[in-house]
Amino acid sequence: MAKDRKPEFFAGKDLKIGIIGCGYVGLPLALRFADVGHRVTGFDLDQKKVDTLNAGGSYIQHIPADKIAAHVKGGKFSATADFSRLREVDAVLICVPTPLDERREPDLSYVEQTARSIAPHLQRTQLVVLESTTYPGTTEELVLPILEANGLRCPISTKEELATDFYLAFSPEREDPGNKQFGLAQIPKVVGGVNPASGRAAAGLYAQIVSRVVPVSCTRAAEMVKLLENIFRCVNIALVNELKQLCLRMGLDVWEIIDSAATKPFGFMPFYPGPGLGGHCIPVDPYYLSWKAREYDFATRFIELAGEVNTAMPYNVVEALAGALNERQKSIKGSKVLLLGVAYKKDVDDLRESPSLKLLELLTQRGAVMEYNDPYFPALHKMRHYDFSHMRSVDLTPARLGTYDCVLIATDHTSYDYEAIVAGAKLVVDTRNATRKVRNGHEKVVHC
Ligand SMILES: NC(=O)c1ccc[n+]([C@@H]2O[C@H](COP(=O)([O-])OP(=O)(O)OC[C@H]3O[C@@H](n4cnc5c(N)ncnc54)[C@H](O)[C@@H]3O)[C@@H](O)[C@H]2O)c1
Repeated sequence: MAKDRKPEFFAGKDLKIGIIGCGYVGLPLALRFADVGHRVTGFDLDQKKVDTLNAGGSYIQHIPADKIAAHVKGGKFSATADFSRLREVDAVLICVPTPLDERREPDLSYVEQTARSIAPHLQRTQLVVLESTTYPGTTEELVLPILEANGLRCPISTKEELATDFYLAFSPEREDPGNKQFGLAQIPKVVGGVNPASGRAAAGLYAQIVSRVVPVSCTRAAEMVKLLENIFRCVNIALVNELKQLCLRMGLDVWEIIDSAATKPFGFMPFYPGPGLGGHCIPVDPYYLSWKAREYDFATRFIELAGEVNTAMPYNVVEALAGALNERQKSIKGSKVLLLGVAYKKDVDDLRESPSLKLLELLTQRGAVMEYNDPYFPALHKMRHYDFSHMRSVDLTPARLGTYDCVLIATDHTSYDYEAIVAGAKLVVDTRNATRKVRNGHEKVVHC
C-alpha cells in the first residue's frame, strides 16, 4: 500500500532520500543525510559519476573518497542513473545546474528536464525540494505544473488546513566549497513551501542536517533570499573593484584601505578586489533576477552596473600588464607570460567562469605566448566558451620562472611560495595582493 506521509514524517529517522545531481552541491548534501543515518540514493545522468560513486570514489577534490566509500559499504549511499527508482524514496532534492545560455539568459533546461524525469514516478505524499539557484517563481511556475501533470495536486496556498497530494518546496543551497569554517551542518537553511504543509515537511527534513532552519512565507521568498545574498556579493565586489582602479590612479593601496576600514566593529564588511568575477554563482545568479524583473517592467540597475564593472576587470589587468611590459621596452605580442592559478578562487579545483580563462584568451589574442601553473589543474579541458585543451600546467622551478617576461598572479593559492616566485621572476603582475608579505623584490611587482 502507498505510504501516507504527514509533514511530521520528514522529521523522523531512517528516511529514504533521493538527490538529483551529484555535483558540488548534491554530493555533500547526500553524504550529510547519510551521516545522520538516512539511506540516500544519488541520481545523475552522468554514468561515469554514478560508477565512480558506487565504487567508493570521488571526483571533487575536497570530498574525500573514503567518506563516500564508507557510506557505500555501510549501505547508506548508492548512486544510479535509473530515475524509476525515484518511486522508492520519501524525499527528492533537486541539485542540478542553473547556468546562463549564450544570450546570458536563464537556462532552466536542467531543472525542467529533472522535473520531467520525476513526474512519471511521483508518489502521493512524497516531498520534492528544488535547491538549484533560480529566479523567484521557478518552483511554482515551472516545476509545479510539470509535476502536477501526472494527476497529483499540490495547491499554492497559505491556508494551514489545506490538503495536498504531495509536498513541494524550495530551499537554496549555500554551500561554499572549500570553506573550512562553515560546512553544510553549520549553515542555516532557508525553506519555503508551495503551501504550509510543504514548508513544514521540508523544514522537518532539513532540521536533521543543519544547525538551524529558517522558514519563509513561500517558495518565491526562499528563491529571492538566495539571489539577494549573491547580488549583495556581486555589487560589493564591483564596488571594491572600481575603487581599486581609482586607488591605483591615486597611488593608494586599496588593500590597506579595506583592511583598515574592516577594523570598524560595525556597519562594514570587507570585500576584496580581483581580476574579475568567477565561480558558478556570483557572475551568473544576479542575471536570473534581472531577467525576471523585466516581466515587471523593472530595471535592476545595481546588477547591470556591477556586471559592467566586474566584466571590465580582466581587460584592466591586460592593460596593466601591457603597461608593465612597456616600462621594460616590451610588448604583449611575443612576450612569454606565465599565469598562476586558473581556478576561480584560491584553493579550489573549480574553474567555472574563472577570470583566468578570460585572461588566457585576451592575452593570447594580443599575441602573448601563454603558459599556466595550477596545482589543482594539471591540464585544461574543453569548456563551453573556451578550448584550452592543449594546455598543461608547467612546473614552477626557479630556473623556469626566470624564462618568462612576466608572471601574472591571477589566483592566490595558499600553496604558492610567493617569496620564491618574486625572487625567480623578472616581472610579477599581482591581481590579488598575494605578494604583500614578500620581503624582497618589490621593484619587480606591479599591483593591479
Ligand atoms: N557549487 C556551489 O558552490 C553552489 C553553491 C550554492 C548554490 N549552487 C547552485 O546549485 C545548483 C547545482 O550546482 P552544482 O555546483 O552542484 O553543479 P554541478 O555541475 O557541480 O553538478 C550538477 C550535477 O547535476 C547533474 N545533472 C545535470 N542534469 C541532470 C539531470 N537532468 N538529471 C540528473 N542529474 C543531472 C550533472 O551531471 C552534475 O553531476 C546550481 O543551481 C548552482 O547555482 C551551487
